Amino acid sequence: MTTPKDRTPDHSFDEFDEANDPRDAATAFEDLANRRLSRRRFLGAGAAAGLTAFVTGTTALTRPAAAAARFGFRAVAANRRDTVTVPKGYSWHVVTRWGDPLWRDGAIFDPVTRGTGASQERAFGDNNDGMALYTRNGRHILAVNNEFANRGGLYGNRKSGHPETADDVRKGKAAHGVSVVEIVEKGNRWSIITDSPFNRRITADTPMAISGPARGHDLLKTAADPAGTTALGTWNNCGAGRTPWGTYLSCEENFNGYFSASGDGFNPTPAMRRYGIGRKDWGYAWAAADERFDISKHPHEPNRAGYVVEIDPLDPASVPKKLTALGRFKHENAVVVLAGNGQVAVYMGDDERGEFLYKFVSDGRYTAGGDNASLLQRGKLFAAKFHDDGRGEWRELTPAATGMASQAEVCIHTRMAASAVKATTMDRPEWVAANPNGNEVYCTLTNNTSRGRKTNRGGDAMPVGGANPRRDNRYGHIVRWMPANGDHTATAFTWDLFVLAGNPTVHDDARKGSANVNAANMFNSPDGLAFDSRGLMWIQTDGNTSDKGDFAGMGNNQMLIADPLSGEIRRFMVGPRECEVTGLTWSADRKTVFVGIQHPGNRGGGHFPDGGGSLPRSSVIAISRDDGGLVG
Ligand code: FEO
Ligand code: CA
Ligand code: CA
Repeated sequence: MTTPKDRTPDHSFDEFDEANDPRDAATAFEDLANRRLSRRRFLGAGAAAGLTAFVTGTTALTRPAAAAARFGFRAVAANRRDTVTVPKGYSWHVVTRWGDPLWRDGAIFDPVTRGTGASQERAFGDNNDGMALYTRNGRHILAVNNEFANRGGLYGNRKSGHPETADDVRKGKAAHGVSVVEIVEKGNRWSIITDSPFNRRITADTPMAISGPARGHDLLKTAADPAGTTALGTWNNCGAGRTPWGTYLSCEENFNGYFSASGDGFNPTPAMRRYGIGRKDWGYAWAAADERFDISKHPHEPNRAGYVVEIDPLDPASVPKKLTALGRFKHENAVVVLAGNGQVAVYMGDDERGEFLYKFVSDGRYTAGGDNASLLQRGKLFAAKFHDDGRGEWRELTPAATGMASQAEVCIHTRMAASAVKATTMDRPEWVAANPNGNEVYCTLTNNTSRGRKTNRGGDAMPVGGANPRRDNRYGHIVRWMPANGDHTATAFTWDLFVLAGNPTVHDDARKGSANVNAANMFNSPDGLAFDSRGLMWIQTDGNTSDKGDFAGMGNNQMLIADPLSGEIRRFMVGPRECEVTGLTWSADRKTVFVGIQHPGNRGGGHFPDGGGSLPRSSVIAISRDDGGLVG
C-alpha cells in the first residue's frame, strides 16, 4: 500500500492540518492589538511590558497570596538529559511501556518487528496520554489513553516507515485507543498485574454505543450501522476525565487524520473541512485495509468520531458510550464539576487554533450511590465568550441560537454552532482543570502562532486581546474563570490570566512572560493540567525543546507545580529528550504520582526508557518520595 508523506516530526497535528489546508493571513486583525488590556494588578506584581495586569472586575479570583509556598520539594533545573529528572529526595521508575503484554498469552515486545496486529491487541498501546487511577477494595485500576502511533517507531521494521500490509494497519489500530490495566505496588515499585481480570484493550475497532441527542440521527447512519447507534472504536484519545460515579472519560482529539478519499474526484464537504477531514490521511492508511475510513464511500463515518467516550474501567465487559451531548470537536480533556444543586458541569477545550471552550450542564442531578449512568446524555451545551473587561458568558448552543435544524445537529456540527453564537476564538485550548479548594477553573492555551494573523478553519477572526492577548503567541498561557456566585450552572463568569509563559532571559517585551515566570521556572506550551487533592496545580508541557533562540534555557519538556493562592510556579520534573510530558494521576494516598512520557526520542535523539541504543518507547512512570511522604 502507498501512503501519503509522513507527518513531519517537527509539526504538531495542528500544523499538519494547516499545511494540508492553509488559511490566508488576515493582518487587519493587527488593528485589534493593544486594546484595553489591563489596568489592575496581576498576581501581586506587574506582568510583561504592555500586558500587565489582568485581574479584572472588582475581585481577584482567588484569595490574596499565601504567606508561604506550599511546595514540598526543591526546584529541578532545566536540562536536556535523556532521562527523567525529579527533585532531590524523590525517585521514579517505569510502570509500563508501549508494547508490554497485558496477558500471559501476549508476546514479549520485539524491538525488531515492533510487534504484529495480534501482539499489539494484547499489549499496552502507544503514545500514552491522559489517565486516571481507580482504587476499589484495595485493587488499583489504571485507565490510560493511547493517543496515536509514531509511524517511525511502529513501522520501523518497514523500509518505507509506513504501514505496508493489512496486518500493519491492524497493528496501528490496536496501538490506539485505551489500555485499562490493574497495577500493584510491591517493594516501592508499581507494575502491571499480567492476566488481571480488569485488564482490557479498547481499540479503533471496539464496539461503542452512541448516546445523547445525536443517537440515530441521519448524519450518523452508515452502511454498516443503518440505525446510527453503534460506532466502532475510538482513536486519537488525548486527555481524560473522571466522573464522581467512577467512570473514565476518554477524549477523541485529532480524529480527522485517519480518513481519506479514494480516487481524485471526491470533494470534502464544508462540514468535513471545518474538522480538517480531507482527501489525505496522515499516513496511517486505515482506509486501505478498512473501507469505512474512505470518506468517498462512507461520508458519515467521520461524524461518528470527535466525541468524549465514557468507559467503566471496573467492568471489562461494559460497552463504552460516545457522549454526543458533550459535542463533537477535537476534544482535549473533560473536567467534571458538581454544582451545588447536584447538576453536573463538564468543561472542555477544542485544541485547534482559534477554536473554542465549551461547557455542558446536565439536566439531571448526581446522587451518590444512585444511578448516574445517563447524566451525560441530556443537558445544555455552551461555548465561552470572553469579554475584554474580565467578564464572560456561556452562550447556549441551541437550534434557535445557531440556525441548525435540531439539537442533534448542534451536537454533530458543534464547531459551526459555536461560530454561529460568536464564541471567543482561543489559542488552542488544551487541558481544563478545576480547583478542588475553590470554584475557579483553568485552561492551558498552548500556543497559537496564527493569533492576529489568520482566521480559524471556520473563517472566524482571531483578534489580539482579551483572553488571548499576544500576537503570534509562541509560548502559550493559562486562563482561569470563576462562575458567577460560584455556581457552575451559571452562564456568567469572570476571568483573568494565571500565567503568560515566556522567556525573560531573551525578551524584554510581552514575550518575557508574566511576573510569575522567571529564569528558574520558564517553560513553553503548557498542555496537561490537573489539581492534586491539596489544590496545587500541576502543569505539563508539549513545546519546543530546541533549547535555542526563543526557547533557550527551557530544556526538555517538563512538569511544574503552581500554587493558585500565591501564583508561584516551580519546576518539579524534566522529561527525557524529545518527549512530551502528558497525563497524570495520583495514588489514593498521594504518595505516588503517575506521569506519562509520550514519544521520547521520536526524532532519533533519545532512547528512553531503556537507554543504550534501544528503541525509545512511550511509558507511564511512577514518582514517589524516598521518605514515603506525600508527593509535590
Ligand atoms: Fe493531544 Fe491537544 O493534545
Ligand atoms: Ca495535549
Ligand atoms: Ca499539545
